[in-house]
Amino acid sequence: MKSPQIRVCARSILAGRAMAEPLLALNEVCAGYGGSIVLEGISLELPERGSLAVLGRNGVGKSTLLLTIMGYTNVTHGTVRWRGEEITARLPHRRARAGLGWVPQEREIFPSLTVAENLTVASRPGHWDLKAVYELFPRLAERRANMGNQLSGGEQQMLAIARALMTNPLLLLLDEPLEGLAPIIAEELTASISRMTADHDIAVVLIEQHAEVVLSLTRDAIVMERGVIVHRALSRDLLNDATTLDRLIGLRASKVNNDRA
Ligand SMILES: Nc1ncnc2c1ncn2[C@@H]1O[C@H](COP(=O)(O)OP(=O)(O)OP(=O)(O)O)[C@@H](O)[C@H]1O
Ligand SMILES: [Mg+2]
Repeated sequence: MKSPQIRVCARSILAGRAMAEPLLALNEVCAGYGGSIVLEGISLELPERGSLAVLGRNGVGKSTLLLTIMGYTNVTHGTVRWRGEEITARLPHRRARAGLGWVPQEREIFPSLTVAENLTVASRPGHWDLKAVYELFPRLAERRANMGNQLSGGEQQMLAIARALMTNPLLLLLDEPLEGLAPIIAEELTASISRMTADHDIAVVLIEQHAEVVLSLTRDAIVMERGVIVHRALSRDLLNDATTLDRLIGLRASKVNNDRA
């Protein structure tokens, strides 16, 4: 006799629906550093090619969420699944090999390597090669022979993202990529990120202080407060919901209102 599980599968196939596993799924995850818990009961799912904005005030655990997805924190409860497989205890380098790409808040590029060397050092076969990342970031093509420490902040950020792309990830985690950048460079980088997600088979989780930017770049959004998810919405709905934005992230939401006034 068939198990209930198999019967459910058979029904679903008969109904013509693929049982697509999410690319990434966190279920009731509690995680932190050493003995201290930062994330409490985080559940979320991201489909292939999905895009998720992570919003929240300073210190609420946004970076810790990305660190947890990459395997750098201490998970005390819950599970992390990648393409249906549990990876809760998997080491970070093995997650990277499985297709998780991460650009940390501190852009960690190699200062004494050239732009081209920074890019090729981590490359893996796939769409994203030198030609493709130079097309996405023409500024890096111009600077290809410069050393990492000769780049502006914006160019360093582009290099950090391009280097992560060279590993040909299925998911890219971006932690405040626009932080500290001059407006014109931030705009250029936003356009590149937008092209990257629109034109290619890549999913993104994007943390950003500028709510209006991140919500226009993503499909789904979560807002965090003290280690928990306090709001979930479609990004376009949240972008138009100034009251909720104002309540949950305050000043940044006021900026949206001002920009729209
Ligand atoms: N390496 C660490 N060891 C111990 N505690 C940490 C560590 N990194 C962060 N924390 C703590 O975890 C909490 C969440 O920090 P996190 O950096 O994830 O917040 P965030 O939302 O990314 O903040 P920001 O907007 O300032 O980048 C904070 O209380 C912080 O002090
Ligand atoms: Mg952070």
